[in-house]
Amino acid sequence: MKIAILPGDGIGPEITKQAVNVLNALGERFEMEEAPVGGAGYAAHGHPLPEGTLKLAKEADAVLFGAVGDFKYDTLERALRPEQAILGLRKELGLFGNLRPAILYPELAGASTLKPEVVSGLDILIVRELTGDIYFGKPRGVRECPDGPFKGEREGFDTMRYAESEIRRIAHVAFQAARKRSKRVTSVDKANVLETFQFWRDIVTDVHKEYADVELDHMYVDNAAMQLVRAPKKFDVIVTGNMFGDILSDCAAMLTGSIGMLPSASLDANNKGLHEPSHGSAPDIAGKGIANPLATILSAAMMLRYSLGKAEQADRIESAVKTVLAQGLRTPDIYEPGTSKVGTEDMGAAVVAALR
Ligand code: NAI
Ligand code: MG
Repeated sequence: MKIAILPGDGIGPEITKQAVNVLNALGERFEMEEAPVGGAGYAAHGHPLPEGTLKLAKEADAVLFGAVGDFKYDTLERALRPEQAILGLRKELGLFGNLRPAILYPELAGASTLKPEVVSGLDILIVRELTGDIYFGKPRGVRECPDGPFKGEREGFDTMRYAESEIRRIAHVAFQAARKRSKRVTSVDKANVLETFQFWRDIVTDVHKEYADVELDHMYVDNAAMQLVRAPKKFDVIVTGNMFGDILSDCAAMLTGSIGMLPSASLDANNKGLHEPSHGSAPDIAGKGIANPLATILSAAMMLRYSLGKAEQADRIESAVKTVLAQGLRTPDIYEPGTSKVGTEDMGAAVVAALR
């Protein structure tokens, strides 16, 4: 199996290195090949997504991605900025299903802003659609308002739209993910107000007929936002559109306290995908050896589970992470008095040791 390793910028190379060490410690034969992306791609080849990097990502069975971005590239024209690499990869690889788990390990219950009893043991998965919705719908723009009470004024407008096949394929992703978990899906919409999301609800209900073993319920997004902070543990898998998913996944992420713990996966129709920590390149701590590598290590576990069909190896990595947390090892972002503060390398090495 071939894995493309794209470390990127800032803390990207430091955290990716630890994930590669963990993958190597599994005792499997992975062929791993590295290529520059983001600012590193621009520095090496004049483009954030160099041709060779894209080719490698396409021919690999999965992509492990660090993070991209640095303020030193802020003056570049938009097409050459590091962040374009992610958009380019999503488009070129056909990635439409964004999986973002929010897991709060019991040892880190104190890191959340919510009461420990509300969040301790939280383990939910948000499945966000990535290619449709109001973010990409046309027409859009600013124009002279054609009718109604504001006729003649300028108005801004966007178009919310979802094609049937777009809804079907993300629903399949959610139901299949639920099968690997506790078999419950909550589809979040705004069917009471929006035609697009009444259609969404109808299609998700139809796809559900193929998954009799999975429970489905529907919830309006305003209620879902409320329930996420009131009783988040009631959820298992949440599936929703691009915009609602953007907002709810950041909300869910923060229930867990540190972004340094949160992995993600972006999948195509065959579950091939790009796996990356939910955080960015953290230029403020880059090169200091203190970044938390666990989000990237857990992203490698998601890669094994969802893209490479190696659930057992994914379980091994996830339990190794639990072991190091139980040992009291903490990078500064999750440090609390009474625990042992370690850097990036030592945290990675501890996971490798726990695996063995
Ligand atoms: P960020 O996620 O890089 O950092 C936010 C805060 O979290 C910082 O204080 C940082 O030190 C901390 N942090 C992030 N990851 C951490 C880790 N593993 N361990 C410990 N602390 C960690 O977001 P920010 O500062 O808004 O963006 C920095 C750069 O990253 C920008 O250029 C942005 O465009 C880019 N970015 C890239 C993403 C990607 O590659 N997918 C996603 C988000 C931002
Ligand atoms: Mg966001």
